Amino acid sequence: MKVLVTGGAGYIGSHTLVALLAAGHEVCVFDNFSNSSPVALARVRQLTNRDIRLVEADICNGDALMQATTEFRPDAVIHFAGLKAVGESSENPLLYYANNVAGSVNLLAAMDAAECHRIIFSSSATVYGRAQYLPFDEQHPVHPTNPYGRTKAIVEELIRDWAAAHPTASAVLLRYFNPVGAHDSGLIGEDPRDIPNNLMPFVAQVAVGRRTSLAIFGDDYNTRDGTGERDYIHVVDLANAHLAALDYSEKGPCCEVVNVGTGRGITVKELVAAYERACGRNIPAQIAPRRPGDVASSYAATAKAERLLGWRAALDIDAMCTSSWRWQSNNIEGYGDASAG
Ligand code: NAD
Ligand code: WQD
Repeated sequence: MKVLVTGGAGYIGSHTLVALLAAGHEVCVFDNFSNSSPVALARVRQLTNRDIRLVEADICNGDALMQATTEFRPDAVIHFAGLKAVGESSENPLLYYANNVAGSVNLLAAMDAAECHRIIFSSSATVYGRAQYLPFDEQHPVHPTNPYGRTKAIVEELIRDWAAAHPTASAVLLRYFNPVGAHDSGLIGEDPRDIPNNLMPFVAQVAVGRRTSLAIFGDDYNTRDGTGERDYIHVVDLANAHLAALDYSEKGPCCEVVNVGTGRGITVKELVAAYERACGRNIPAQIAPRRPGDVASSYAATAKAERLLGWRAALDIDAMCTSSWRWQSNNIEGYGDASAG
């Protein structure tokens, strides 16, 4: 299948490219490298021994998208491109609405122009907001608590309306929980710019000596050990979920929202202990105040993914930490260590 992958150079996109190419799909990446490096694509080429078409452009540029779809003529689109920093989205909401919402409008219009009506969209468990019950199933009310989350909820609605207007359309809206880890080769992984917002990349940078210690945001939550509990999902499992979603979308018209998680919560302290086992080092950490907006626990109901996509997570927290450590210890400064090519 010919698959246009927006945001394909990013963390989840690069891992999904490896899975797509291994499955024999032809890909075209559309990315402006605003939060990624061309080195990631060079590494994917190295890993797969396959060529990757690249259009270096912004999804805010509707003409560039239109040209990409009408030239490549994709059978399906996987839409990763977007901005994802919760704090930044509160400081600069228009930037988020322009990139995530207006960019998605441009993409759907460009797909229409190329008569492509199949899309897999990167949504987020953040759309659920505060839990009314756990685990979060796909029927849980959607109440995002920040502009980033609202852009994801709006794009879900946008795609629903677009799909309803096209009798042959297939759309799978994947709500990722907390993607972590890296490809087993250690060649690709998560490479945040600036100070990592998320737990696992922060822990990885402490382990490798780029940062001195981890602040644990609160140890007085109502969880096993008082620290926040999340559903961490190995990025390689997540990549495979996209292949399963593509297969599902081929079966016929649909518009489905599907959680992608393991169904199991891991606390901050449990993750740190697993990382210490993986790297064989002590991770200095101290308790700090709660981070505003954080919830105690979040984890997925996974039955719908199993039923609809025939997909379930296979990799555990140890595999997540071991692969993250291989990536981080081989690439201390991330892709900044390497020259492109
Ligand atoms: P990432 O930042 O590593 O990847 C996003 C990619 O999109 C980058 O390569 C970036 O350069 C590109 N991009 C951003 N804006 C663009 C634009 N206007 N035009 C063209 N390219 C653009 O992020 P990721 O972690 O790989 O996330 C991928 C998607 O999954 C995002 O939509 C994100 O919101 C969503 N998501 C991520 C997480 C997570 O924790 N990583 C969780 C839930 C959902
Ligand atoms: C996990 C746990 C923190 C950092 C965020 C976004 C969400 C989604 C995934 C895109 C929490 C604790 C963290 C640190 C800590 N992204 N923590 N010290 O908050 O579940 O979700 O990323 O869609 O939208 O909100 O993930 O990795 O930031 O935090 O103690 O330095 O680690 O309090 O309990 P979160 P996270």
